[in-house]
Amino acid sequence: MNFSDAKDNILQILSRTDSQDLTKLISWMKHSDDLDNYLVDNQRAILQSIADDLRCSLPLEAMFPSETMAIQKTQQNPKPTMHVDAFLYDEETVDSLCEEGKMSRNFCLTCGSHRTAPMEFISHSFSISELQFLFLRVLPDLSGKLVVDVGSRLGAVLYGGYLYSTAAQLVGVEICEEFVKLQKMTVEKYGFSDRIQMIHADICSQAVLLQNADVLIMNNVFEYFMEPTDQVRAWQFISQNFLKKGALLVTVPSIQEALMSLQETNGVPAIGHWLQEVPLDYSVYLQNDADPDSLKQIHLYTVI
Ligand SMILES: C[S@@+](CC[C@H](N)C(=O)[O-])C[C@H]1O[C@@H](n2cnc3c(N)ncnc32)[C@H](O)[C@@H]1O
Repeated sequence: MNFSDAKDNILQILSRTDSQDLTKLISWMKHSDDLDNYLVDNQRAILQSIADDLRCSLPLEAMFPSETMAIQKTQQNPKPTMHVDAFLYDEETVDSLCEEGKMSRNFCLTCGSHRTAPMEFISHSFSISELQFLFLRVLPDLSGKLVVDVGSRLGAVLYGGYLYSTAAQLVGVEICEEFVKLQKMTVEKYGFSDRIQMIHADICSQAVLLQNADVLIMNNVFEYFMEPTDQVRAWQFISQNFLKKGALLVTVPSIQEALMSLQETNGVPAIGHWLQEVPLDYSVYLQNDADPDSLKQIHLYTVI
């Protein structure tokens, strides 16, 4: 059935629906996840295919043994915590893994008993829905712009930016070499190399890149990966180099929250003369699997 026939059929069904049920039917069409399978856009399908590829190249926790600090910090959390990468594992995949016994949403309070409590999950990547929100709702038209993802890890932001925006260049800077290799493989396989570049480096060595960037994305880059003194040094470096007036900074969590946790360390930069927050509308409907609480962690600032 072509578009015009399908549309006529839908209109006929609506005209035959009892008037008291019409609003309910339209609301179901707009919001029910029964229709999710029909709403998968082409870009999302490509991102899902990349996630499928990457899942095969990584252990379940999607961390390399070389990430000793991140592994230790995860283990030190007061509640049992597991890294579940939100780009690789959506809610549905986590549910299937739990059913197969490969993952658990709960931990046992007294070993062997049925008294359980929910595990804490953290993700070191944006989910596909968060990427859609970021590039389609948070950021303006990026034509001609240079976007830099600080700590690009699996490359999720780079692929999302390639597919959901018209940014001229997307550059990922990642300190862990194994992740840079994975990004390079993906960029080559999917033919993204005309607009995506990867740099294996500490962001603190990239002054010129920061000076030229129009958009800087920082998804919880430092908390799990650097000691507080190094985190302060990195924030200082960024605040001294990312200075193009009108440039945009996206952070998770808010920069205030990230810097607050470092207050006991000397040299935390002041942001009042550097950045101004841009209020975001978090109520937009995306896919039903978008977690409103995680969207609210995304904050946008302009360099003043
Ligand atoms: C939470 S992940 C962010 C992933 C990705 N940007 C996203 O949103 O999907 C943070 C990444 O930053 C990297 N990283 C930490 N400190 C860094 C630094 N100083 N320079 C470059 N990368 C860094 C870590 O290796 C890690 O892969």
